[in-house]
Amino acid sequence: METRVLEPTQQGLRAAGEIIRAGGLVAFPTETVYGLGADALSAEAVARIFEAKGRPRFDPIIVHVASPEEAEALWSEVLPLARRLMERFWPGPLTIVLPKRNIVPDIVTAGLPTVAIRMPDHEVALGLIRAAERPIAAPSANRFGKTSPTHHEHVLEELSGRIEAVLACGPTPVGIESTVISLVEDPPRVLRPGGTPLELLREVVGELRADPPLVRGGPAPSPGTMRRHYMPRTPLFLLEPGLPGEGWEELPRERCGYLGFAAAKRGFRYGEALSERGDLREAAARFFAALRRLDSMDLAAIVAEQVPEKGLGVAIMDRLRRASQGIARLNEHSVWIKRA
Ligand code: TXA
Ligand code: MG
Repeated sequence: METRVLEPTQQGLRAAGEIIRAGGLVAFPTETVYGLGADALSAEAVARIFEAKGRPRFDPIIVHVASPEEAEALWSEVLPLARRLMERFWPGPLTIVLPKRNIVPDIVTAGLPTVAIRMPDHEVALGLIRAAERPIAAPSANRFGKTSPTHHEHVLEELSGRIEAVLACGPTPVGIESTVISLVEDPPRVLRPGGTPLELLREVVGELRADPPLVRGGPAPSPGTMRRHYMPRTPLFLLEPGLPGEGWEELPRERCGYLGFAAAKRGFRYGEALSERGDLREAAARFFAALRRLDSMDLAAIVAEQVPEKGLGVAIMDRLRRASQGIARLNEHSVWIKRA
């Protein structure tokens, strides 16, 4: 199959909408990352998402809508808190989990009695949903286990020839996936930190559990919470202060890459600066593309600076921890690593 690259014009959106209605796959931009979309009400169309991604098993997928009313038509129970959250955060990077109606096929929710829904804050995403005249199920548009795509070129690198089309809109503004909140638990629980900061959610929700199962070591109900979900090919290590101790492994700096707020420290072969001015929003927007570039450079290791865990920093640290294979320390000439 040849993947069509569509411009985000009225004509492009119309063509994309037709593909979705016919049961095909269209990758499209959202404010967070590119999604791989299919008709959310067609089990066969959604099954094709798993094939294209090469997901080894069925994981629940987020359904994208163009209005709160469309979400309410898919949930069987809409709590007042859900309405307050939609009012405050939609359109935007917040995904809400509530009990589903029967019209939502089981393959969308991987058999769960709940469905995760969000209204993206991106004109092209909303235009596609309207053109398709139905809700669109979409995971991030990457092959299974790879980093999320924040540019249509990333989508083409991995999915070209496996999907009908991609809407080509360049980089996505937020850069990190949506925050997923479950309202079927009391108090509500954040299943995945993301583009909507926990501090803002707490203003509306009050008591909020934000201890993902990953941290507590329980079974993960969300694949996004799987430990190795965002693993790059190149081993990544989280930078810690201090000097190496007994049993640490030494790597020459010129074989390593550096991922941090500012330009790389001296001696590294290559560095990616997430935000010279230390801005977490800018860092989130650049994060996945930077990781991808580092991963393509044949480095022995990537050393990643830790970011403060506030605002979007919580989501960035969550992705970094899950991408990491251990910790790193620096002395004058070398990188020292300790595998977890
Ligand atoms: O920003 C985003 O959320 C992007 C864009 C494309 O919308 N999508 C995305 O999808 O990141 P994906 O499939 O990569 O991650 C979806 C997350 C997973 O952690 C999944 O387990 C969780 O949402 N999820 C989906 N349905 C769920 C449900 N019914 N209950 C609990 N978690 C659910
Ligand atoms: Mg994903």
